[in-house]
Amino acid sequence: MALTLITRLRRHRSVRVGMDLVEVADVAAALASPRAARYLELVYTRAERQDCKTPSGSFDPSRLAARFAAKEAAWKTLGEAAAALGWHSIEVVRARGGEPSIRLDARAAEVARSRGLKRFSVSLSHEPAYAAAVVVATA
Ligand SMILES: CC(C)(COP(=O)(O)OP(=O)(O)OC[C@H]1O[C@@H](n2cnc3c(N)ncnc32)[C@H](O)[C@@H]1OP(=O)(O)O)[C@@H](O)C(=O)NCCC(=O)NCCS
Repeated sequence: MALTLITRLRRHRSVRVGMDLVEVADVAAALASPRAARYLELVYTRAERQDCKTPSGSFDPSRLAARFAAKEAAWKTLGEAAAALGWHSIEVVRARGGEPSIRLDARAAEVARSRGLKRFSVSLSHEPAYAAAVVVATA
C-alpha cells in the first residue's frame, strides 16, 4: 500500500507544467532599439529567427514573443537549476505543418534528466498584443 502511494507520488512529480505570457510590445521595442541585432542573437537561435521572418524579411514580434514565452515556460518546468542555462539551451522547432516542439541542448537535457523529465510538449498562441506558451514536461 505504502509502496503504491510512493510510486504514485513519484509519477506525479514527473509531470511539470510551465506557462508564460509576453507583451508583444516589449519584443517590438527590443527590435526597434539600437541593440536589436544583439537581442535577436542572444535570445533566439538561428532557426528561430528564420522561422519568425515575414515574407518581406522583417521579424514578426508576435511570433518571436511566443518563442520567448515558450523558453520561459520550459524554464519553469526545469526549476532553479535552469537559471544557469542560456536562452539558446531551449529552442522552439517548427515542423513543416506548423506544429511546434521543444529541443533542449545537452545542458538543458541534463537539468531535465535530474528532475526525471524527458519529454517536452509545447503549445503557442499569439495575437498582436500578447503571446503565450504552455509547456508540459513528462518522464
Ligand atoms: C493551427 C491553428 C490552430 C492556429 O491557431 P490560431 O488561432 O490561428 O493561431 P494561434 O496564435 O493560437 O497559434 C499559432 C501557433 O499555433 C501553432 N501551430 C501551428 N500549426 C499547428 C499544428 N498543426 N498543431 C499544433 N500547433 C500548431 C504554431 O506554434 C503557431 O505559432 P507560429 O506560427 O508562430 O509557430 C489554426 O491555424 C488552424 O489550423 N486552425 C484550424 C482549426 C480548425 O480546423 N478548427 C475547426 C474544428 S475545431
